[in-house]
Amino acid sequence: MITTWEQIEQHIAACTRCTLSQTRHLPVMGRGSRNAQIMLIAEAPGVQEDQEGMPFVGRSGSILDGLLQSCSLKREDIYITNILKCHPPGNRDPKETEKEACFPYLKYETYLLKPKIIVCLGRVAAQRIISPDFKITRQHGTWTYRKDCALTAVYHPSAILRDPSKLETTKEDFQTIVKKCKEWGDFH
Ligand code: URA
Repeated sequence: MITTWEQIEQHIAACTRCTLSQTRHLPVMGRGSRNAQIMLIAEAPGVQEDQEGMPFVGRSGSILDGLLQSCSLKREDIYITNILKCHPPGNRDPKETEKEACFPYLKYETYLLKPKIIVCLGRVAAQRIISPDFKITRQHGTWTYRKDCALTAVYHPSAILRDPSKLETTKEDFQTIVKKCKEWGDFH
């Protein structure tokens, strides 16, 4: 049983639960505040994240920082992690077996953080966390409630890189997330 952040880090660093452990350069553990009320969950580390061992340090990370800045949030205000802790070669979608193998780490992160708000970045995270038939185009910015947590999904920053017309609507979704956090958490 994992009960501390340090134990999660140690397990992820030594993980061989799926074959991505053979191709990864570095595993990528979640980063940010371990007291955050907002938890962002994305898909899997990209090439640059794999090199540096940190989430969202590449081009998607710059988009994410812009989105956070647009609603006066900083990386230190949130906790950000991925469904998979290791980079899938060629940036392919994570396989079911990989998601299952890695899911315990996300559960432990969520258990220790106890976020008030979970924001899924993109379809893969939304379908794993919110609902298997989640349609990001139609349902981004909508809310689902589970126990003491409000969940939503927004476009993945890499989708914004491919289609910059998604930026404005995603900024609006982030404004709503901050508003929700003020109502739902003790966020000022
Ligand atoms: N894309 C993701 O889904 N996660 C990262 O950490 C970086 C890019």
